[in-house]
Amino acid sequence: MPLVTSTEMLKKAYEGGYAVGAFNVNNMEIVQAITEAAKEENAPIILQVSAGARKYAKHIYLVKLVEAAVADTGVPITLHLDHGADFEICKSCIDGGFTSVMIDGSHYAFEDNVALARQVVEYAHPRGVVVEAELGRLAGIEDAVNVTDEDAQFTNPAEVEEFVTRTGVDSLAIAIGTSHGAYKFKPGQKPQLRFDILEEVGRRLPGFPIVLHGASSVIQEDVKTINQYGGQMPDAIGIPEEMLRQAATMAVCKINIDSDLRLAMTAALRKYLVENPSHFDPRQYLSPARDHIRDLVKHKMKDVLGCSGKA
Ligand code: G3H
Ligand code: 13P
Ligand code: ZN
Repeated sequence: MPLVTSTEMLKKAYEGGYAVGAFNVNNMEIVQAITEAAKEENAPIILQVSAGARKYAKHIYLVKLVEAAVADTGVPITLHLDHGADFEICKSCIDGGFTSVMIDGSHYAFEDNVALARQVVEYAHPRGVVVEAELGRLAGIEDAVNVTDEDAQFTNPAEVEEFVTRTGVDSLAIAIGTSHGAYKFKPGQKPQLRFDILEEVGRRLPGFPIVLHGASSVIQEDVKTINQYGGQMPDAIGIPEEMLRQAATMAVCKINIDSDLRLAMTAALRKYLVENPSHFDPRQYLSPARDHIRDLVKHKMKDVLGCSGKA
């Protein structure tokens, strides 16, 4: 089976009241961990690549790794550009074998965001590639961009129909209180999401797939392990899993998770290296890290997103 677009999988997710996991990939172990989980859970999967990942691993390596995972596992996989900053990076990924791109014009004024998203759609659609855009602005850190809480902005539901109609995008990311990174809420702050906004967006765009970024739950067990084995992470609070479950039963069909994978990998690596101080074979310490990510992704698919058995 070749790489697929997310059209069918998001349509089925909408109708079935679950969400497809979109996990960020940066190297072979992460690709293998996620796709092994998808195979074991018989789940559809979106593997997403950021500009930072392309810089770290090179576009061609990531594409070939994902193609290898398709051949190895046989599960339906969408290869997606995460947070494309401009037309050029979207074009480069469309020309370079991706089946889905995000154009992130969320920091621009409405009209500029529309124009940019439209431009990408006009290039992507004739080439069989789908497009995600974003309205509203998430707080948090991605790559070198740090959006402060003050600069973050909830999505205005009154804008979504016009945005989707004029751009022709295939899915829309909205801001309802999630944020990027491991520090989503201040210590002592109660996690809250604006489900009223999600509900209103869903009412205005019936049948249309909504995307939730910044959806890591910041598994406390992993933070604890990191700190137990020499790390120094301050209190980190993520999105409670029951909130993600709720969002998945509503219009949210794609849920983006990266930080939880990073924490899982770091926790397993720290633990292994501290417990085995004389080992220096990367295969020895990368194996438990890969296994730990695989188990985390299986948990997300089964217990949070509801996409197990839906491939
Ligand atoms: O939303 C951003 C993702 O977590 C990717 O992060 O840009 O550091 O690769 P990155
Ligand atoms: P997290 O930082 O919450 O994992 O969000 C990832 C994301 O939104 C990737 O686009
Ligand atoms: Zn994101």
